[in-house]
Amino acid sequence: MKEASVTTGGRDSAASHQSPGKDLKCIFLPESVAIIGASASPEKIGHQILKNTIELGYTGQIYPIHPTLSSVCGLKAYPSILDVPGRVDLVVIAVPAQHVIPIFEQCAQKGVKGAAVITSGFAEVGNVTDEHRLKEIADRHNISLLGPNIFGVVYAPSKLNASFGPKDILPGRIAFITQSGALGIAMMGQTEMEKIGLAAVVSLGNKADIEEKEVIEYFNDDPNVDTILVYLEGLKSGRKFMTTEIRKPVVILKVGRSKRGSKAAASHTGSLAGSDKIYDAAFKQLGILRADSFTEAFGWSRALSLPKPKGEELVIITNGGGIGVRTTDECETVGLKLLDDPSWLEAKYRKTMPDFGSTRNPIDITGQTGAYGYQEATKISLAEDKVHGVIVLYCETVVTDPMDIANVVKTEYESSKRSKPVVVAMVGGTRSRDAIAFLNEHHIPAFSSVTEAVSSLKALYHWQSFGERTREEPSIAPVPAEALEIIEQVKSKGRNFVLEHEARRILELCGVASPRWHFAKNVHDAITHADGLYPLAMKIASPDIIHKTEVGGVALHIQDKTELTFKFNHMLKTVASKAPGARIEGINLVKMVTGIECIAGLSQDPQFGPAVMFGLGGVFVEMLKDVSFRIVPFGEQEAGRLLADIKGQEILNGFRGIEADKASLVKTLCAIQALALHVKEIDINPLIVNKDGSFAADARIII
Ligand code: ACO
Repeated sequence: MKEASVTTGGRDSAASHQSPGKDLKCIFLPESVAIIGASASPEKIGHQILKNTIELGYTGQIYPIHPTLSSVCGLKAYPSILDVPGRVDLVVIAVPAQHVIPIFEQCAQKGVKGAAVITSGFAEVGNVTDEHRLKEIADRHNISLLGPNIFGVVYAPSKLNASFGPKDILPGRIAFITQSGALGIAMMGQTEMEKIGLAAVVSLGNKADIEEKEVIEYFNDDPNVDTILVYLEGLKSGRKFMTTEIRKPVVILKVGRSKRGSKAAASHTGSLAGSDKIYDAAFKQLGILRADSFTEAFGWSRALSLPKPKGEELVIITNGGGIGVRTTDECETVGLKLLDDPSWLEAKYRKTMPDFGSTRNPIDITGQTGAYGYQEATKISLAEDKVHGVIVLYCETVVTDPMDIANVVKTEYESSKRSKPVVVAMVGGTRSRDAIAFLNEHHIPAFSSVTEAVSSLKALYHWQSFGERTREEPSIAPVPAEALEIIEQVKSKGRNFVLEHEARRILELCGVASPRWHFAKNVHDAITHADGLYPLAMKIASPDIIHKTEVGGVALHIQDKTELTFKFNHMLKTVASKAPGARIEGINLVKMVTGIECIAGLSQDPQFGPAVMFGLGGVFVEMLKDVSFRIVPFGEQEAGRLLADIKGQEILNGFRGIEADKASLVKTLCAIQALALHVKEIDINPLIVNKDGSFAADARIII
């Protein structure tokens, strides 16, 4: 039998959603733009798009399209796209929904290759048919289609603002991709106010055609973009998203965390498979940074444009002791390291401060030294190889103008040719706010809070750690024929669940170890095979009994043959009386092993498909829900990162004298994924790990 495959690279069936040969260049670098619905009335959206396109300074051809007007905003207008004399690269459609399809057909006829459909009234209101028609036309004619239901597209290097958002953006190196229109427009305004530069703003709306993957991959090769920031509410296809190639820092603000746990599922593992945790897993697996707020997302995005640090040793320069201590705390919390070499620091920085300053990192130059002290301390920090990154702090005082501080930091940073990462936090009033904006405008990430400054620097280190990962092939083995046969037999009996002894055998064949066990058909068989299993657990095996404990079908800690004989017979009698008519196939005897109780499993996410779960088991799983996921397929390194994801991971490094064979856990997690295409759910609870390995003490499989 040919083994089905789950892929991470290339295009799998879900990923073939986008037709090959489409190019987003015509959207971002068009030589001509037509705006359909270019009304002369300023209150109309089409008018605003035309006005923005003209006013940001787009130098290509602009063609207003209007049924009756011969000119709009001083430009010659055409009654239809087919009347435009020249080639049209990008068309922006802002006419009511009922006109969009025929207009889009005309665009295709004209040979347009890029389209932004502003109009609402498609799938978001249930008009799926017209949205599919748009997609079908786009595919048939190789048109890259943004939208529908978007506010447009902005690309600073082309001076193109084909949107009805704010007229101006500050040119920069962050590409902002947004699913939400209103929030996107709002953030354009905010970034302008805070002097955060943007290279692009892309409204995705309903994503009939172009989704996050295509835009991220386009910006991978765009020299004008350093960082990609995505505001996401939900993906259309998680599996397609998993094929996204991440070559530049991507920060995602994915909302909807509170929906965690909403997914109903039959098994225990499934009930923890809240899709937000799966999104978390997807981002980690792809090497994407997940932010929790716009403030954080834009802060990180700015810092991600900084040069990569060459090491871990940071220096804090401050005019205030308190803010220095706060920042030190923050650094420790997020795991950033401060340079700690007292005599070297004393020798280098003493001259930048009065006698009462401190050269113990934070370098406290005091409020007295002013811009001179900042300039010297910054210069030294940037010149010294021992310092790998700098955090400049400033508390606003009347004796120093924050703009002077901002100026000297900028001067020194630029003369060092931006040699290492520098972030700034300025705490104070409006003068500090202006100085922060000035620094941002000059691409030095500046913040009004130390938390944000430290967090953004941490993001840079985080991204760097993604880059240090080595590429690995998924560790997914074919399922042995014998295991597939058991699954087929179960199906042929009309069951969707696998009995415990069948589950053990399937898992063992796939590489998931069990404690020693035997499936006993009768008491004689049990006695004959129980040697070496004591102390053991006994569990009834019946296709008619799901909750074994409730019918007296479980007995634990059986110590010897006498107890086994008695309890075996007793169990058969009790079950027969409590579940009359239930077919009894036998009793599982499983050696009871001790170790750290974990939980592992497999569930199917509607977006991302099969995902493997791992967490601490026993009471921990119920109380702490300390579980994490990885989307199938993944390799051993990724499985190792899954172990490191859980909050209680320290327990796996040894707990109350119990050692854990982490390598066996990694192998077990990889082995589970082999069954991803053949079963719906696996629930191994507990999975006992000790120094000898990892063992499925109990296992359930739903097919
Ligand atoms: N070719 C060219 N122009 C045409 C055509 C045509 N076939 N048909 C109509 N027009 C012209 C109209 O004559 C009109 O110009 P006029 O004002 O000079 O007469 C212009 O196109 C616009 O048509 P209207 O019927 O006036 O439509 P209106 O501008 O009110 O609405 C719009 C069109 C904006 C596309 C609307 O249907 C819509 O979808 N609005 C929502 C847009 C939106 O919110 N998108 C999501 C953004 S994200 C967010 O939430 C902020």
